[in-house]
Amino acid sequence: MILKLSSFLVLLLQCTALPPLYRVIDCDDPQTHEAALFALQHINWNHNHGYKYALNRVEEAKAYTQNQDHVIYILELDLLETKCPSVSPTPVDQCIVRPRNEQAVEGDCDVKIQKLHGNYTVLGVRCKSELDSAENVFPACPLCHFLAPLNDTNVIHAVDVSLVNFNAGNNTVFYHLHEIGRGQFQDANSVRVEFVIVASNCSIEEANSGLSACVANTGADAQYGGCVSTVVTNPALQEETVNVQCNIYGPQPAQDQQATVQDVPVVPQQPKVHGHYHHSLYHSSLWPHSSESSSAEHHQKAIGKPVVRRSLTGEPVPPNTLQRPLCPGRKLFF
Ligand SMILES: *[C@@H]1O[C@H](CO)[C@@H](O)[C@H](O)[C@H]1NC(C)=O
Ligand SMILES: *[C@@H]1O[C@H](CO)[C@@H](O)[C@H](O)[C@H]1NC(C)=O
Ligand SMILES: *[C@@H]1O[C@H](CO)[C@@H](O)[C@H](O)[C@H]1NC(C)=O
Ligand SMILES: *[C@@H]1O[C@H](CO)[C@@H](O)[C@H](O)[C@H]1NC(C)=O
Repeated sequence: MILKLSSFLVLLLQCTALPPLYRVIDCDDPQTHEAALFALQHINWNHNHGYKYALNRVEEAKAYTQNQDHVIYILELDLLETKCPSVSPTPVDQCIVRPRNEQAVEGDCDVKIQKLHGNYTVLGVRCKSELDSAENVFPACPLCHFLAPLNDTNVIHAVDVSLVNFNAGNNTVFYHLHEIGRGQFQDANSVRVEFVIVASNCSIEEANSGLSACVANTGADAQYGGCVSTVVTNPALQEETVNVQCNIYGPQPAQDQQATVQDVPVVPQQPKVHGHYHHSLYHSSLWPHSSESSSAEHHQKAIGKPVVRRSLTGEPVPPNTLQRPLCPGRKLFF
């Protein structure tokens, strides 16, 4: 009877899905960064408005090694908004990270990634983003001005006059507004805006004739441009000075690498964020909550923490350099 009971217990233990034991790994290990950059690519592919994000640091990293060829990573990533609009074909590693004095945007993502026989698959993503706080911006730039809401009437007006001005230039194609990226008041009479334009199927003449319905080209024909403009109003003269510069992008890069990835579709939420100050990075895909016990993860996490040691005299022992904490990793930017 006792034998029977114990074998039953063994069976029971085998049937209950025990939480896999994740171990804390080095946040700055090249393998960890490789997985993090794959996740970043996935996040940027699925963030189809606003700006691309760059990796600032790996904040936490855990891995579960099933065997040599099969590893599952759970990473927490700190991201920073770049100046490349999401439609820009520039690879994110060549995009300039938005500096503090322009009120940076920080993204925070939890990702779960599988590496199987050298191929990565994103199993889950959960992201959010927020504007750098005034307390952080102000010391770096006491004279900086904070962002205006994207639906502010003065911001919308500045974008409108800038686009009219650009279409009156020497380009042959007529451009539509795709989205407003940022708006910032420089002073009472000056607004700086960033926006994305998209080519229509009309020439300037066709658009000006008013005879043809002009629509934005989409899909493989879509051609975008990123614009920065400053509009200064002179109330005394009742006139505006517009200084607009647009960079028309080449064709959209084919995202063929993605075809080799078994992706969980990510549902972008709130694609239009007119009441907001920035384009929030808010998406989540099937994030497995139930399968792993967080207590097991927490237990493992503690191992990676630096150990505070005391000598017999009560004096703190200088930290052993070999015992540096594995995480968080170092910041790549700020
Ligand atoms: C990994 O990718 C390579 C090349 O893309 C492919 O040949 C191989 O079958 C893939 N392995 C798995 C397990 O998907
Ligand atoms: C047309 O625009 C291009 C690029 O903005 C500029 O280099 C060129 O000088 C302009 N041509 C004329 C005739 O204004
Ligand atoms: C642009 O596309 C719209 C809708 O397909 C069409 O009605 C219009 O005639 C096109 N304009 C030009 C100039 O081709
Ligand atoms: C901007 O959007 C917010 C939230 O959607 C709304 O409360 C506000 O009235 C809007 N402002 C303008 C000027 O439309």
